[in-house]
Amino acid sequence: MDLSLKNYQDYLEVYKFSVEQPEEFWSDIAYTFSWKQPWEKVLNWDFKEANIEWFKGAKLNLSYNCLDRHLAESGNKTAFIFEPNDTNAETRKISYYELHEMVCRFANVLKANGVKKGDRICIYLPMIPEAIVAMLACARVGAVHSVVFAGFSAQSISDRVNDSDCSLIITSDGAVRGDKKIELKKIVDEALVSCPSIKKCIVFNSKNWEVNMIAGRDVWWHSEIKKVDSHNEPEWMDAEDPLFILYTSGSTGKPKGVLHTCGGYMVMVGYSFKTVFNYQPHQIFWCTADIGWVTGHSYIAFGPTLNGATSVLYEGVPAWPDAGRYWNIIDKHQVNIFYTSPTVIRSLMAFGDTFLEGKNLSSLEVLGTVGEPINEEAWFWYHDRIGKEHCPIVDTWWQTETGATMMTPIAGLGVAKPGYAMYPMPGIQLMLVNEKGDEIFGNGVEGNLCVKFPWPSMARTVYGDHKRFQQTYFSTYKNLYFTGDGCKRDEEGFYRITGRVDDVINVSGHRIGTGEVEDAINDHECIIESAVVGFPHDIKGQALYAFVICDKKVDDLEKFKIEVGKIVSERIGPFARPDKIQIVRALPKTRSGKIMRRILRKIAEGEISNLGDVTTLIDPTVVEEIKKEAL
Ligand code: WTA
Repeated sequence: MDLSLKNYQDYLEVYKFSVEQPEEFWSDIAYTFSWKQPWEKVLNWDFKEANIEWFKGAKLNLSYNCLDRHLAESGNKTAFIFEPNDTNAETRKISYYELHEMVCRFANVLKANGVKKGDRICIYLPMIPEAIVAMLACARVGAVHSVVFAGFSAQSISDRVNDSDCSLIITSDGAVRGDKKIELKKIVDEALVSCPSIKKCIVFNSKNWEVNMIAGRDVWWHSEIKKVDSHNEPEWMDAEDPLFILYTSGSTGKPKGVLHTCGGYMVMVGYSFKTVFNYQPHQIFWCTADIGWVTGHSYIAFGPTLNGATSVLYEGVPAWPDAGRYWNIIDKHQVNIFYTSPTVIRSLMAFGDTFLEGKNLSSLEVLGTVGEPINEEAWFWYHDRIGKEHCPIVDTWWQTETGATMMTPIAGLGVAKPGYAMYPMPGIQLMLVNEKGDEIFGNGVEGNLCVKFPWPSMARTVYGDHKRFQQTYFSTYKNLYFTGDGCKRDEEGFYRITGRVDDVINVSGHRIGTGEVEDAINDHECIIESAVVGFPHDIKGQALYAFVICDKKVDDLEKFKIEVGKIVSERIGPFARPDKIQIVRALPKTRSGKIMRRILRKIAEGEISNLGDVTTLIDPTVVEEIKKEAL
């Protein structure tokens, strides 16, 4: 069957085929990639035990598919256009030939430093080409990378390194974002004090800053690559061999190491990049995500390179040196497809349209958003002012765990509504369920979003804790993958994500578990208990509101708040700092000791007139007190 999508009718037909014959559909797609050896079976699955295998028995290498197979025809094509933070610094163009050579050399460096197939490697790098090289080189030698966002603290690095027993870490002297300097190597040094599994640390000299190198452990990237040649035979991986781990927050406990495997991830990430954006070979693509998040993995490092695309890679932040920087970059590099987050759109919109003056955005053909629900005002501004009313907006809904886009209005098919992720990608079988797990049929309904059939890029486990994987995603509703998101299906059958229904808060598109922040806050010497909830924020989408109980008198409230923020910064990262902190005498708890977050959420949202039933609380009077002092 012809799987190309020229209009919405094509989509409906392809979708029907993908649901009726999923294995045929996905193997048709899989044949468009290079395999060293074909699969014996397309799919094995059991949602009860959370065991999923795609393309079992096949052999492949992801970096071979991202690089080597393009060389004969388009080796000279630019793979990445690197735009440095500093506006005076020169743009760097890297062709597929060059990227291939860099990756092969670095793969040899990894091997020379003892890395073997299956080893876990931590990557803590800023948005520079070497970050992509490091990821692709890990994939090439069969090592499992765990990228840690370079905004995370030393404590967060060591937690992640220790959880997956990483043997090597790759970092740089530092990063500059806007006018902020971050000494990455220093943070890594601090983290490594408590990381016994790390044997080597490779340091890329990005800024010429002075760093402390520990003999025997730390080596320089630039001296190591001189010791090796540029020939590297890729490691042929089983389709179900691990590819990477990415830590993400959930409702409970510490962040989970979501694990993706080689074959299925490649197939769906490559397919979705091409399909969602309707990517054409001459186009220039720019995804503004950081490689520390899944969007940077799937739609910077892997999706575009799998398709031999040209991507912009930007080192800096959106509003530096002024709020016109993104529009300058689009103008300068003639970007055709621009993929960013609602938070970025809202924050740039807030600066006003003067920053758009004199910027030629006429190269733009497709716009995209990801990571959080987009409000109508931001959608229209994006559509009218950036897309000049002619660029489709792909509002892509997906998750770290899904690996690739699951739902979106596909570019060029002409069916879209502001704020709607619209319809599932071919091959994706969605279901809305009520609290009891019964399917909600019909249109004009709302429920919890589940997926009822496996897809190739789905996570396979939580590293080292399969039980947690099974319980988090497959135990809430029988035989379904539960996304944790609420969702509406409108009268026409189109989907709109309404937000998380669990204790995960989406701040500027960063997933933050309330439990993690509470654990950090509780480390403050005056605090004995806390409850963190989300509340709506004009720019960030949601922000954090912390209710805390102190066992000592707090004299200087402002100082106290700064201290609490500092603890959260140190334990997690600056982006997880609560915007509001309220000291309370007690928290609203049920007789069984559970905090009634529903009530706190309403108070945080400023909706205090109707808090619902409070009679099951041990002490309903606390609610009145908290309400009175709400911020
Ligand atoms: C939210 C990011 C509304 C959702 C790729 C999901 C969205 C969580 C959208 C995953 C969207 C992502 N509209 N909400 N288009 N895309 N989300 O793992 O709540 O960082 O569960 O993956 O972001 O966040 P994650």
